[in-house]
Amino acid sequence: MGHRFLITGGAGFIGSHTALVLMEQGHSLLVLDNFDNSSPEALERVKGLANGQGSLELIEGDVRDADAVEHAFKSGGTIDGVIHFAGLKAVGESVNDPLRYWDVNVNGSRVLTAAMERHGCRTLVFSSTSTVYGEPQTFPLQEQTPTAPIHPYAQTKLAVEQMLGALCRTGAWRVASLRYFNPVGAHPSGRIGEDPLGIPNNLFPFITQVAAGRREQLHVFGDDYPTPDGTGIRDYLHVMDLADAHGVTLDHLLQQPDSTALTLNIGTGRGLSVLEVVHGFERATGITVPYSIVPRRPGDVPKLEACPLQAKTVLGWEASRTLEDMCRDGWAWQQANPMGYRRG
Ligand code: WQD
Repeated sequence: MGHRFLITGGAGFIGSHTALVLMEQGHSLLVLDNFDNSSPEALERVKGLANGQGSLELIEGDVRDADAVEHAFKSGGTIDGVIHFAGLKAVGESVNDPLRYWDVNVNGSRVLTAAMERHGCRTLVFSSTSTVYGEPQTFPLQEQTPTAPIHPYAQTKLAVEQMLGALCRTGAWRVASLRYFNPVGAHPSGRIGEDPLGIPNNLFPFITQVAAGRREQLHVFGDDYPTPDGTGIRDYLHVMDLADAHGVTLDHLLQQPDSTALTLNIGTGRGLSVLEVVHGFERATGITVPYSIVPRRPGDVPKLEACPLQAKTVLGWEASRTLEDMCRDGWAWQQANPMGYRRG
């Protein structure tokens, strides 16, 4: 039987892929998005891909705007659960403008959960981040590994985790904070994908833009890290695996009879270096990616790699897609949409 879910930030990269998975499961979605770093076109394409399964309504609004959130809860029927994607996610920007991060990420979450409390909707999946672990020294990274965020982006995500933990201790709330590692790739159709504004910060979209000839070469940020090839290691996971994880998490929470507070790593457990990703992309697509080594990027840590076992134990979820899948699907999206959602 389909549920009705509120998805904040549902037009974004992870939100749009998750919306599609939930619609394919027959759910009715209400998306709240201010299109700050996303496009309504993504939702149009999600509807096209869902092909009559489930439903999707849109409210254009900001999660900090109590009236907009109230309107979401009052429009249509009861909301059975919320996935809260809406937020800011650029590490460097958070260092330069911390108050904006505390406002959007923390205050936005407070406004949302206050409305949920008022309307008796206490089931929530929250987008957290593997960067809450800071610069860890020991691996694998388990959920009980101490958190030590080193920039405002991660600090605000951890603050929300703590706020939600406190809410759960008041009773009745069922909350999962999912600590995403590095989501990449796109839906295999090539219709929806990641659409960064301007020069991409992140490795994957940069690689696909170099492969497409839109940028001359990749700058590899440092080859003197204490890793086997000297380049940084991250746990990249396919965005469709991450989208599936949200569906499974909501199902799990809705089955819990009592107050539940979950914090789960969402990754593959297999870290890859920058050069391993570059060469994996070349193998998957047959395209050479020119690169040069440049100095380290400030704020980068040598390695982040999930221990994903808790998610498997609690949810029965584990990532199934390979690096080849991530590269092939990300490349299909880039080729079909050279300028993202802005054209074609
Ligand atoms: C990965 C690796 C870089 C670009 C950030 C956020 C995180 C998350 C995802 C929200 C690193 C190297 C990168 C480039 C490179 N959240 N790199 N050349 O830094 O792990 O995580 O994005 O979006 O919260 O912190 O991801 O893709 O930027 O970098 O060499 O042009 O690739 O040094 O080792 P990161 P990333």
